[in-house]
Amino acid sequence: YADSDEASAAVAAQIANLIRTRAAEGKPCVLGLATGSSPTRVYEELVRLHREEGLSFQNVVSFNLDEYYPMAPGSLQSYVRFMREYLFDHVDIRPENVHIPDGTVPPEQVAAYCRRYEEQIKEAGGIDLQLLGIGRTGHIGFNEPGSGPASRTRIITLDHVTRTDAASDFYGEENVPRRALTMGVGTILEARRIVLMAWGEGKAAVVKRMVEGDVTDSVPATYLQSHPDVQVVLDEAAGAELTP
Ligand code: F6R
Repeated sequence: YADSDEASAAVAAQIANLIRTRAAEGKPCVLGLATGSSPTRVYEELVRLHREEGLSFQNVVSFNLDEYYPMAPGSLQSYVRFMREYLFDHVDIRPENVHIPDGTVPPEQVAAYCRRYEEQIKEAGGIDLQLLGIGRTGHIGFNEPGSGPASRTRIITLDHVTRTDAASDFYGEENVPRRALTMGVGTILEARRIVLMAWGEGKAAVVKRMVEGDVTDSVPATYLQSHPDVQVVLDEAAGAELTP
């Protein structure tokens, strides 16, 4: 796409179409959601479609990819707060249908909590559409280099590069949590449709590695190459290093 606004509107239209199609069939629409700067305009457009064009989220069930650990839901940087601010507080999604990894689970309960998160996705019927961004390390969700294709929802140590990129949100790298809860690469690959978005020249190098590079756990996003229904949505700058 020429720019990320146009691209975001197209992604939002695709999501709206899926929500409406599933509603017409009397079925839930299960969305896997991402935070960060990449999806914000998609969420803004979905809010507009809700307000101006009657798009209802009554049949939407959502599962967010990740959350910092530890993280209180009311904190400025929590993904709970992010999702409420950009989407959930402005649409008619049922609160009981929203799932975001809980950054307050005691350490000894994390493993069981993560297994339960996976079960909840299965009980919902699996993810119809998974939205993704990509980190400069090649992470999807918070699956940092070293994350394999069979990885599941778990606690992970954040890469130094990821913590640097998050430093401004936390007023200094020393305040960025060292760990996070994340769906695994294997969890993500089970989504029926995947839409990954990347904007700006800062993503151009990792986008090239994801699309054209060898499949390797050094760049977990390369595992998307094996998925049968994945779209990589880019602006001009993020796609600038791809082989024409
Ligand atoms: C966020 C997530 C991360 C981000 C990635 C890109 O829920 O899972 O993988 O998508 O770090 O972040 P932005 O979009 O801020 O460049």
